[in-house]
Amino acid sequence: MSFDLVFFGGTGDLTWRKLMPALFQAFRHGKLAADGRILAVARDERSDEQYRAFIQERFSGVEPSKRPSDEEFARFAQLLHYRRMDLSRPEDYAGLKGWLDERSADTVVLYLATSPHLFPLICAQLGAVGLNGPSVRVVLEKPLGHDLASAQQINRVVRSAFQESQAFRIDHYLGKPAVQNLMALRFGNALFEPLWRRESIANIQITLAEDLGVGTRGGYYDTTGALRDMIQNHALQLLTMLAMEPPSTSDADAIRDEKLKVLKSLKPFTAESVARDVVRGQYRAGTVAGQPVAGYLDEVKVPPDSRCETFVALRTEVQNWRWAGVPFYLRTGKRLAGRDSHIVINFRDVPHPIFPGSSHANKLVIKLQPEDGLELHLLAAKGNANNEMLSPVSLDLDFDKAFPTERVGAYERLLMDALAGRLNLFVRSDEQEQAWRWVEPVLNTWANDPTPPRPYAAGSWGPPASSALVARDGCAWAEEA
Ligand code: BG6
Repeated sequence: MSFDLVFFGGTGDLTWRKLMPALFQAFRHGKLAADGRILAVARDERSDEQYRAFIQERFSGVEPSKRPSDEEFARFAQLLHYRRMDLSRPEDYAGLKGWLDERSADTVVLYLATSPHLFPLICAQLGAVGLNGPSVRVVLEKPLGHDLASAQQINRVVRSAFQESQAFRIDHYLGKPAVQNLMALRFGNALFEPLWRRESIANIQITLAEDLGVGTRGGYYDTTGALRDMIQNHALQLLTMLAMEPPSTSDADAIRDEKLKVLKSLKPFTAESVARDVVRGQYRAGTVAGQPVAGYLDEVKVPPDSRCETFVALRTEVQNWRWAGVPFYLRTGKRLAGRDSHIVINFRDVPHPIFPGSSHANKLVIKLQPEDGLELHLLAAKGNANNEMLSPVSLDLDFDKAFPTERVGAYERLLMDALAGRLNLFVRSDEQEQAWRWVEPVLNTWANDPTPPRPYAAGSWGPPASSALVARDGCAWAEEA
């Protein structure tokens, strides 16, 4: 199957930081057809050779085991091409079409790795020039809009040029092996499903913690904030996978229909519940991994009076028979104590304790990153004495050890899926719009609230109000339990 893969935003951060290294891995793994063409499109004038040199230079920032040797890069570079385009000029799209038509590849993937405000313009132009035939797919990078109205506007334009089955909306969390394992855990094994409900589960916690600050992205981040950057997409996608009903098949739409139902069942926020159930924070100077780091307000391109949140913790519920009354806690933040993304399923206490001491309920910890694995926490007797207190023990499963061959990274997986036309790990427009619908009352309440986000020291786990949010229900975050 021949392919042409076009990157709009071909000299941008995302392209050289994530997409090119992922493509190189696919190339190294022998997954890219030798006659495939990868075309980077951007506004400045460069030759293919100059673009190849630009990419090779940037590979020096990639971790050593994933960096090409000169010989490997020379072979990979044969696939790379560059084309100058002014995205506002219809003639430039006609030129692109001419380049693609030269050989009519079986598959043409057009990857929009530009700022999202350009998506409507690009999609409309692609449609107008006829670059939307059945062999064409369009990949849209997040952020997909800024709120419900802008997301709908993007979707309207995408729909006017492409079928839904041609639109691949990326949420790179769905490409992570650990996240795909969530589906495998629930629907490939019969063990947990009977317990996966309100009768057995007390609460569910999703933590997506980063130790990095906003770095050089202060300009983007300050108009985005943690709710839009991580909760509306990554955290909600994880929640849907945890809470969805078993789909009847593994087809993309069977899965996405079930995920959409979860999003529609989330308890809607009101101004009162935002004040009670959502905590927003902003980091101050502190220490991360032994190094002093600046506060958010001192980061490059961040206004000194910014009220942008770099931390969010919230409590919600899925209002259906399976989950009624079970709190789902979501939290994410920059400059937290460590890079640590995990899900904790806290099971209920035994109904009638017969052993001495306080009973620790069972929990299943799904580790997403940096490690990828499962821990099942149980209680066991050492057998040393009569009437002894039970001791906590855990069954640990490390997927990197279980699968010793190299595992495929998120972008590599998603790029290969887009080339193969597999939609399972991409977000459908109605899911994405429903997620915006759910976060919007929070955004609106904050916009009208003069109180600034709560400060927290860099290197901590966020403002104390985050612990208080879960303590209200008698729960604690994993690091405090
Ligand atoms: C991106 C956000 O979607 O995800 C970034 O825009 C964030 O702010 C990143 O750092 C986190 O991704 P990962 O894969 O490192 O957890």
